[in-house]
Amino acid sequence: MNIPPIKKITEQSLTEAADLIRRGELVAFPTETVYGLAANACSDEAVAKIFAAKGRPTFNPLIVHVTNVGEAQTHTVFNDSADKLAAMFWPGALSFVLPKQSKSNVSALVTAGLDTMAIRNPAHPAALALLKEVQTPIAAPSANRSGCLSPTTAKHVAEHFGSSISLVLDGGECGVGVESTILDLSSKTPVLLRPGGVTVEEIEPVIGPLSQRPVSKILAPGMLENHYAPKTPIRINAYNCSSNEAVLAYGSQPLTGGKFMENLSPEEDLIEAAGNLFRMLHILDKRNCSQIAVMPIPNEGLGLAINDRLKRASTQT
Ligand code: TXA
Ligand code: MG
Repeated sequence: MNIPPIKKITEQSLTEAADLIRRGELVAFPTETVYGLAANACSDEAVAKIFAAKGRPTFNPLIVHVTNVGEAQTHTVFNDSADKLAAMFWPGALSFVLPKQSKSNVSALVTAGLDTMAIRNPAHPAALALLKEVQTPIAAPSANRSGCLSPTTAKHVAEHFGSSISLVLDGGECGVGVESTILDLSSKTPVLLRPGGVTVEEIEPVIGPLSQRPVSKILAPGMLENHYAPKTPIRINAYNCSSNEAVLAYGSQPLTGGKFMENLSPEEDLIEAAGNLFRMLHILDKRNCSQIAVMPIPNEGLGLAINDRLKRASTQT
């Protein structure tokens, strides 16, 4: 498989990336959560390339990335909750689902024909610089093949894609390490569609209680059970392990006796653990072990997002 060119972030590589995006090509770029696969959100043809490159079903809508709140408001209809949350957490790891502005020129493919749009103002300096240079909103899913682990390094991205993408901008490792939190703010009660980089404990003091994901409708594929999965089967909440298993540990007393071990955070720091999650899963996935045994992770703060990804990765279909 041809590997796409990987270039460090420089003024020159940013200009090149922006030119490629304006010409309708795909470019992978770093955000503070995970790497994204960018296309000009206003071009049907460019957006269609994202679905083709990822092998992603076209009924699964994408997040639109913008430079600031003002730009977000030209594409979505903000309300009180969105105002408050944007003031508090943007730029950052939080995406809002809001009614689409009728005058928005974002491609209907991005929103999969829905009358709502997911929108985010990312904080990574390279992502912001790219957005400013492109001067058009960027549609970007995580830069992995559909259903696979999300990438937190440029190398992960290159492993997923061949020549279907034109360039990978290398900004080093992503700081947050799990995807953005997605909140549906389009109806009266805010709904947590996907736990992520901004925690429920941070959000609820600002806008009140969140409802959890609705049971009846699949609104975010993050909700599809088997997602973010490595090739090696995953066993969660492991209190023991066998000699042909790899261990994904948490805390100062990692399980012993496995074939390989990576520790998400010896100090039990959930922020550190989130930052390490996908990178360590990528590493353990390459060890040819029968299974990855994951130690229990506290279900609070970023632990909610970590457990959400692990639970889905462990569900086999
Ligand atoms: O951190 C992130 O959010 C990364 C970086 C690149 O920004 N992006 C990301 O995108 O995780 P993706 O495509 O892997 O996940 C976006 C999620 C999907 O589960 C999609 O279904 C949901 O957002 N989504 C997008 N538009 C939506 C809408 N109008 N209503 C409900 N869910 C929506
Ligand atoms: Mg994804």
